Amino acid sequence: MRLSALTSGLLALASFSRAAEIIKRAALTQVSSFGANTSGTKMYIYVPDMLAANPPIIVAIHYCSGTASAYYSGSPYARLADQHGFIVIYPESPYSGTCWDVSSTAALTHDGGADSNSIANMVTWTIAQYKADSSRVFVTGLSSGGMMTNVLAATYPNMFAAASAYAGVAAGCFYTGTTAGWNSSCSGGTSIHSQTEWANTALNMYPGYTGPRPRMLINHGSADTTIYPQNFNETLKQWAGVFGYTYGSPQQTIAGSPSAEYTKYVYGPNLVGVYGTGVTHNIPINGDQDLAWFGITGSTTTSSSSAVATLTPKPTSSTSSTTTLVTSTKVSTTSAAASTTSAAAGGCTAAQWAQCGGSGFTGCTTCKSPYTCKFSNNWYSQCL
Ligand SMILES: *[C@@H]1O[C@H](CO)[C@@H](O)[C@H](O)[C@H]1NC(C)=O
Ligand SMILES: *[C@@H]1O[C@H](CO)[C@@H](O)[C@H](O)[C@H]1NC(C)=O
Ligand SMILES: *[C@@H]1O[C@H](CO)[C@@H](O)[C@H](O)[C@H]1NC(C)=O
Repeated sequence: MRLSALTSGLLALASFSRAAEIIKRAALTQVSSFGANTSGTKMYIYVPDMLAANPPIIVAIHYCSGTASAYYSGSPYARLADQHGFIVIYPESPYSGTCWDVSSTAALTHDGGADSNSIANMVTWTIAQYKADSSRVFVTGLSSGGMMTNVLAATYPNMFAAASAYAGVAAGCFYTGTTAGWNSSCSGGTSIHSQTEWANTALNMYPGYTGPRPRMLINHGSADTTIYPQNFNETLKQWAGVFGYTYGSPQQTIAGSPSAEYTKYVYGPNLVGVYGTGVTHNIPINGDQDLAWFGITGSTTTSSSSAVATLTPKPTSSTSSTTTLVTSTKVSTTSAAASTTSAAAGGCTAAQWAQCGGSGFTGCTTCKSPYTCKFSNNWYSQCL
């Protein structure tokens, strides 16, 4: 009797917390209903305890073989959200191999019904749910997520104020006409087009749109053998064309910025390229740089938004008991299958996130402990 009363009380509590799960703070939380989702893309969100009034939103998009959880743990945005009070959305690809669909006509079309459309719906849901600032929505991603960053900038220019793509390709470059296809001429850096052609490719993804477009920060490494460095040049051509700059004539070239191995190509307030000499596909994510580019932190860029000044604590009625701040410990999701690291036969091991296999790949195929080499597709395996 007392036991059953207690049990039903606990059940009531459990269902209450499940209902309130979407507002759980300082924890990566799945949102199961955010609007139309024809591609079956999953939505995860990170809302810090201390949320800014009218918070900005950063959409942070994982690489091939990644997950929302892996990108939450392995990128700096959630930790930075704790400091600056913005919301992070981590979409998760629904496809086997979990690369994004950046290759189908639907994906490359505004409101086309594919992943890009689902991610836009996540943003719309979040703006409404948290009274977020629709003029401060940003997107970033790595590798396949970098490709999606460029695709979202082209398909939803009305939604994003700025973007930072790492090791991606120009929007449309990965076109195959199939869902989540792999365009090896693009990845291999042999899809070369003029500035005008690339610009038209992007502009045609949302025909008739004449409003403002996201400011673009393009990051790539010169030693990237997964998404060849020529894609840096092609992506800059695309956005230079869209913004009316001249690809071959950046206004400023700054060597050693933001650190020794990088050179910054400044075309103007709307386009900057950051090229890392000797940097591979395992390109580091520079969260501080991204926040400055987005105008969330003070920067030299022209931005209407000032630094976040006031943070409001979570409502005391929140059901979340999690008060500790989530640290960005790089949790490995692998099941300690570290046996492959002992041999180091070739004398080399690849770091976390590094490529470790794929057609034409000649680097280390053994991952540094405790990571394991996970197959993504015929062209790409990665240490996770
Ligand atoms: C989107 O699809 C995924 C996979 O089917 C599902 O887990 C998720 O709940 C769906 N979300 C919405 C809003 O329909
Ligand atoms: C990749 O894109 C190029 C255009 O840039 C196209 O010619 C080629 O057919 C595409 N590859 C595949 C496999 O569809
Ligand atoms: C691509 O851009 C990089 C950085 O500006 C430059 O070093 C390289 O020569 C360019 N490649 C081509 C083919 O123009």
